[in-house]
Amino acid sequence: MEVQTPPSSLPSRQFAAPGTVLVRPLLLKPQWMNGLSERLLVSHYVNNYGGALRRLNAIRTRLASVDWTRTPGFEINGLKREELIAAGSVILHEIYFESLGGYGNDPPNGLEEPTADLARALERDFGSVAAWRAEFTAMAKALGGGSGWTILAWSERLGRLINHWAADHAHGLPSATPVLALDMYEHAYHLDFGANAAGYVERVMANLNWQRIGARYRMAIGETAGEDELFLPYGAPPQEEARISAEELKATLDHDGRRPLLLDLCLPKDLPRRTDMLVGATLHAPGALSRWIEELPRDRPIAVYCICGFQVSGTAVTELRRRGYDAKALAGGITAWHAIGGATKPLDTSSYEEAR
Ligand SMILES: [Fe+2]
Repeated sequence: MEVQTPPSSLPSRQFAAPGTVLVRPLLLKPQWMNGLSERLLVSHYVNNYGGALRRLNAIRTRLASVDWTRTPGFEINGLKREELIAAGSVILHEIYFESLGGYGNDPPNGLEEPTADLARALERDFGSVAAWRAEFTAMAKALGGGSGWTILAWSERLGRLINHWAADHAHGLPSATPVLALDMYEHAYHLDFGANAAGYVERVMANLNWQRIGARYRMAIGETAGEDELFLPYGAPPQEEARISAEELKATLDHDGRRPLLLDLCLPKDLPRRTDMLVGATLHAPGALSRWIEELPRDRPIAVYCICGFQVSGTAVTELRRRGYDAKALAGGITAWHAIGGATKPLDTSSYEEAR
């Protein structure tokens, strides 16, 4: 089966082993969410989303070598079943995470409403936005203590938006396109909310990024979205050539003799959020760029990363490129690196400049 690519220009598409599904960066700022903790969101992204992605790619690698004429049916069934489940989990998690977050550098304020076109569609199909919300949240809360997804989807055949129940990652209405997916597996809330699924549902509803959900709706009904920038992490370099995907960086480090120099940039206030770094990287303060830039080689590619690939690495890469360095920002930062299972070592602050 083919995996659909959600609307985005990320990550860099010029590299991928055949069949590899690339990790998508977090668009939300996990430390600034409105009642959902960074610990919960990052654990969910790295372990559950990343786990599904790693599993999907491993299954696809295995499928590529299957001898379809000799492999027993039970092995084929097992691989194809697991491929469907893993792909569904990857895609639904991406829709879930991309539906959350604030705008630009601002945290969600809990007061956002659907975009005008989506609000009209919800009114048409549910009577009002409030009626849609009442049904959607009641369905999600009803899954508390169990597991599954609550999904807002566009059905061309039914000619309307519907809220539908999904018992697992492989459960959906045929040919309908998810617009918003709410993860009701316990791993999505237990760290913050214990068994209080209803409290979690209310917090998710207060963190929705309706611009991205609206863009997904326009894509679903066949309008040209043209809103790729909505799906770029805030502050990431807009040019594709100024970004490198986690998979490409990993392949380059593993196999390419021309290893990039690795720069780990971290604001002084964010150091307490850090525990590890890429093997071979050097930690620097972004504010001390004028000092550490003098030591950078001009004849070697440079990969710059920060925690999630927002403006810390984006601003530095833009400046390095302006000065003629072959620098790229790691899309999704070390968080995306964790999600693909990239190796790290304990954080080494010996090269870190004094906070300025
Ligand atoms: Fe999940």
